Amino acid sequence: MSQYSEEIERRRTFAIISHPDAGKTTLTEKLLLFGGAIHVAGAVKSNKIKKTATSDWMEIEKQRGISVATSVMAFDYSGHKINILDTPGHQDFAEDTFRTLTAVDSVIIVIDTAKGVEAQTRKLMEVCRMRKTPVIVFVNKMDRDGKDPFDLLDEIEEELHINVRPLSWPIDMGQRFRGVYNIYEQKLNLYTPSKQYVTENVEFKDINSPELETYIEPEQAEKLRSDIELIEGVYPEFDVATYLKGDIAPVFFGSALNNFGVKELLDCFINIAPSPRPVQAVERMVDPEEDNFSGFIFKIHANMDPNHRSCIAFVKICSGRFERNANYKHVRFGKMMRFSSPTAFMAQKKEVVDEAFAGDIIGLPDTGNFKIGDTLTSGEELHFKGLPSFSPEMFKYIENADPMKAKQLNKGIEQLMDEGVAQLFTNQFNGRKIIGTVGQLQFEVIQYRLLHEYGAQCKWEPISLYKACWIESDNATALENFKRRKAQYMAIDKEGRDVYLADSGYVLMMAQQDFPDIKFHFTSEF
Ligand code: G4P
Repeated sequence: MSQYSEEIERRRTFAIISHPDAGKTTLTEKLLLFGGAIHVAGAVKSNKIKKTATSDWMEIEKQRGISVATSVMAFDYSGHKINILDTPGHQDFAEDTFRTLTAVDSVIIVIDTAKGVEAQTRKLMEVCRMRKTPVIVFVNKMDRDGKDPFDLLDEIEEELHINVRPLSWPIDMGQRFRGVYNIYEQKLNLYTPSKQYVTENVEFKDINSPELETYIEPEQAEKLRSDIELIEGVYPEFDVATYLKGDIAPVFFGSALNNFGVKELLDCFINIAPSPRPVQAVERMVDPEEDNFSGFIFKIHANMDPNHRSCIAFVKICSGRFERNANYKHVRFGKMMRFSSPTAFMAQKKEVVDEAFAGDIIGLPDTGNFKIGDTLTSGEELHFKGLPSFSPEMFKYIENADPMKAKQLNKGIEQLMDEGVAQLFTNQFNGRKIIGTVGQLQFEVIQYRLLHEYGAQCKWEPISLYKACWIESDNATALENFKRRKAQYMAIDKEGRDVYLADSGYVLMMAQQDFPDIKFHFTSEF
């Protein structure tokens, strides 16, 4: 127990993730409504990048600019302090989302009932699985016709590789949607389409009682009874400990747009979702309730003003209490720093705060002191782990287009990479620099920012690569041998780690076969 225990235990820091259009923004907004953080629907600016704007990335950056304020939305609900971390909807910024997931203690996944599990959800869930993040699933848009709920649960289990346990169950769908039976609270929630108001619910412990027919059609009542019987037979009892280990995901059904099933989700969430969890540092495990402050930078958001290269570094507080104007150690620099205007994000406002606790996210104005993964502490030498880079999906050589500005270009590349815009690999054979991204858009962003913020001009040259794999081996001779044999394809990443650039899936498979002593990793953390 520490003096901050009470504050820390009431915190719930999480992210909502989904494939674009499943309803993440709508759900976020409804959660804020319950928290009293906003009063009317439609107040949350979508961080989603409109499809029409994909060719105009300046527009996208503008929209991302808007999203700084909504990057973290905090509110109080029922004695809890809720921190929702927003994640960019556009898949070209998936890397941002991956990093955000390192700063949360749990996740809510939104799935569109008609579309089921989609690509982006699958990818994000992989990250959650790697980190054993507890997950709750919200099946959205029940007011529309969708897949059979049992089929959908099977699909979730199969595609997301996680066991599920429904805690609410829909009564029909689409036009005939009548509501859900809340298995968790044993209540019947009847549906009335409404975008602003919260629906009433009825205590209903025994669905076998004939009273059920006074609320819903006889066929619907019969179906509900047999469905619930099947659920109780097929799915294990819900067990919070299993959920907290990331082994089972409770599932809720509802309609975010109609504000239906959202309160039930939130009420269950605050009960079962974890308060800040211990965080692994290279040196030791750090407990949130320790008295001393520690935290790490998981995101850096560049200022939109090109003449003024200042950023906001987002810090996840891992332990203790952060205080404005106190001295904290920037571990990588080994020097003490003071922050006079840390900001917190209450609902949609950004304001200077005097203190914040483990679980909270604060923004520190920065002019290039931080890079992603940096640790701040009260003085201890700590390095937090777990900010993995994933193998990019697109690669290009970056070349200098203005020989007079080589220095600016190198500085620009270095800083943009520290900010986590993309990944840099230096080919050890020819010394050329390769930028790896998850989407085409990032190349445009880099080129534009190099020019406008650093006065440097770059040009892209094609390179055909399939994946970048971080390699290691317990056998030093085998490692040397591999590096010699694949010399043309060997690179180092920003941290100097060995990376093998495989130019096709086949070549990679052969390499894995031919060099059994070499371990190939698709993320930089292993
Ligand atoms: P995202 O952040 O996951 O990308 O999704 P968002 O909340 O923006 O929702 C995508 C679309 O789905 C929106 O419609 C939204 O109104 C709709 N939607 C969200 N929840 C529900 C629901 O429960 N039922 C139904 N029927 N629709 C839902 P849009 O037409 O793209 O945008 P808008 O013009 O309505 O804002």
